[in-house]
Amino acid sequence: MAAREGGAGSDWLSRALARAGVLPLREAEEAAAHGRLAVDGRPVKEPLTPVTVGRTRVTLDGHPVSLAWHTQVLMLHKPAGVAAHGGREETVFDVLRAALPPALLGFGWHAVGRLDKDTTGLLLFTNDERFVTHATSPDTKLPKRYVARVGSRADEAKLAALRAGVRIDRDGPLTRPARAQLRGDDSVELVLTEGRFHQVKRMLNAVGLPTLALHREAVGALALDVSPGALRVLTDDEVRGALNFSASRAAESSPEKE
Ligand code: URA
Repeated sequence: MAAREGGAGSDWLSRALARAGVLPLREAEEAAAHGRLAVDGRPVKEPLTPVTVGRTRVTLDGHPVSLAWHTQVLMLHKPAGVAAHGGREETVFDVLRAALPPALLGFGWHAVGRLDKDTTGLLLFTNDERFVTHATSPDTKLPKRYVARVGSRADEAKLAALRAGVRIDRDGPLTRPARAQLRGDDSVELVLTEGRFHQVKRMLNAVGLPTLALHREAVGALALDVSPGALRVLTDDEVRGALNFSASRAAESSPEKE
């Protein structure tokens, strides 16, 4: 679903094609290498050929294609045992591709942050790098809600320490104030507004609560509502309202702005 027109802007050919949903990045590079792309009537083999959305004419196999794009965001329910990226293991991108409808296969999708291999839950993907910056920057303070099953008893003192901030890096700052509450005898809910490496597990460890299982339930005001391995495209209202992303604000600070 469109959040807003991406609008004019200078970019590289392959990246513009991936963002507009014509061809994913690697396929765009291959298409260029095989002489299938032309820019303003001239065949190009260089995927980093500069293009301007709204001005440059691009053809693929002789057919005109549009570089116009919108911010698209989708939620995936990441199953356990799937890595963020890597070698021969199944990755979140394999899960994503298996669940994508044909109409969305042409996009270059960026994962918005990462979840550990054993963590389950809400993982966002987007065609808009500016959305990645928005949603992962600690400055945005977008809350992320996790629930962890822990291997020892969580008491009020431990929850109070989690809320106030704990030291997880020897020389680093305390973690930001967080929401922490019990969800049962062996489960803790944590809401964080920053995303340091393995932050939830390290925070829980710091107060003597080893993590046995971790699940992300929500990002911003957006709660996970699809089953494991499934995805859905977010509406404009969700991207704007629940995730607080404004494409026009992002365009203001984008280096690609003309
Ligand atoms: N914090 C962690 O420790 N792991 C995750 O996967 C996400 C947040």
